[in-house]
Amino acid sequence: MKKLLIAFLCFAFFQVAAQTSLPIIPAPVKAQTKPGNFTINEKTLIVVHGNTEKKTVDFFNNYLQKYYGFSLKTAAKASKNFISFTTRTFVKAPDKPERYTMEISPVSVQISGDADQGTFYGMQTLIQLLPVEKSAALKIPAATIEDYPRFAYRGAMLDVGRHFFDVSFVKEYIDLLALHKINTFHWHLTEDQGWRIEIKKYPRLTEIGGCRNGTIIGHHPGTGNDGKKYCGYYTQDQIKDVIAYAADRFITIIPEIELPGHSSAAIAAYPQLSCFPDESTKPAKGVVWYGDTTGKQVQQSWGVYEDVYCPSEYTFKFLEDVLDEVIALFPSKYVHIGGDECPKENWKRSAFCQNLIKKKGLKDEHGLQSYFIGRIEKYLNSKGKAIIGWDEILEGGLAPNATVMSWRGEKGGIEAAQQKHNVIMTPGTYAYIDHSQKKNEDSLTIGGYLPLQTAYNYNPIPKELKPDEYHYVLGAQANLWTEYVTNPAKVEYMAFPRLSALCEAFWTPVEKKSWENFKQRVTQQFKRYDRWGITYYPGLNEPVK
Ligand code: ACM
Repeated sequence: MKKLLIAFLCFAFFQVAAQTSLPIIPAPVKAQTKPGNFTINEKTLIVVHGNTEKKTVDFFNNYLQKYYGFSLKTAAKASKNFISFTTRTFVKAPDKPERYTMEISPVSVQISGDADQGTFYGMQTLIQLLPVEKSAALKIPAATIEDYPRFAYRGAMLDVGRHFFDVSFVKEYIDLLALHKINTFHWHLTEDQGWRIEIKKYPRLTEIGGCRNGTIIGHHPGTGNDGKKYCGYYTQDQIKDVIAYAADRFITIIPEIELPGHSSAAIAAYPQLSCFPDESTKPAKGVVWYGDTTGKQVQQSWGVYEDVYCPSEYTFKFLEDVLDEVIALFPSKYVHIGGDECPKENWKRSAFCQNLIKKKGLKDEHGLQSYFIGRIEKYLNSKGKAIIGWDEILEGGLAPNATVMSWRGEKGGIEAAQQKHNVIMTPGTYAYIDHSQKKNEDSLTIGGYLPLQTAYNYNPIPKELKPDEYHYVLGAQANLWTEYVTNPAKVEYMAFPRLSALCEAFWTPVEKKSWENFKQRVTQQFKRYDRWGITYYPGLNEPVK
């Protein structure tokens, strides 16, 4: 009996050791190492059976070329020294299209996805098994892996309104997301401080709304103003190019067109969008303004502004026209329509809004916001699209088919799921990677504190939900607002390693997660970040929140 127990304990120990020794982030569902290794060298062939795995082969070969200086030839078959990428075929669509299995032996690596994205994720796992050192012979451990994500929605948001990031950096960021098996890039394209997407019918949006005359220096309200004109926007051709680039990496891009708040840049371009078109833009209190102070202006500091879209027919026609161009560009099922932080002061003092509230039998200005969002939802639904909105869209009653993005903690997400609406969890406490990641952050951040371990510990299913409500949680997302993120290196520094921690919250089953084990794997990941040439915060021991 004792012997049996010892044998069992040894077996259990080796099971755990075998499961935890592979440096894969996010940790796979099942992984078992085996004796021996497979070695990739210049003679290794990639076996593919058709064209369906082309995206996977291209990503892998580009990666090998970039970081190891060689790439592999493809073949229809091989008997040894090969990597095969296969996508299974099913009579009906597979339940888990992102699932893959992987068999690594001394003679081959065989990766099979349940759909193309599964095969792609198997390849991403293979990348993580490559040694980080550059060499002509890349030894990887023999293993058997089966893996699939916990959540179908695994997102990362980048705000390009406060600071603009050019196409080449956006593509680099998308590559980093793909390397973490993130499948959604939420592109926050419009803000008080800049409108960043070309709309052909309304050229002033980018001519006027795409530039601000200056930016505050330091923390809001700032110690002054840099007085530098700050401009940037993406042409529609650039947007199409980025969408295709992301699609090659199985990443869907969801555009965000903010309404009714955070719209000073659009109002600067088309003042009739405001309920008070003749009033000059008010800078925030204490802000040093640069340049013209008359008329409507693009904001030069951060925060929340009272001059929001007026719910007039002019505005709805404008938004429908804008959305027509947006949906013609983005194949995504969803359009994010914002909905957060919309002050109601202007609607309260507008005779037009007060009449509209009466005419439509609405309760108050929150009801008016719901009317606004509801109309936009109806329009987008009629075009075959669905809306996502920040959790304020709950306040005057949810639009019938809306998905809620819960950011002010988990409360909005819980409430929406209880109302049988889909939810994406992005609570500030766990998922706001614009917050400081150490107690004494020496670079400027918006404030807040989100250390790595707290991000790692995140579980997107709130404990308040009942099991039959879990399925409303589509997944979760990391948000990177860029008030204090002015350049690509700072984006990387804020994102990493916290995005590596969060992607595990999005992908790995809770029972497979272990902070101690993640710490070891992320240490290996730091070496990979070094190979990728990205900036990151290397601390692992900041106290949890
Ligand atoms: C938000 O952070 N205002 C959604």
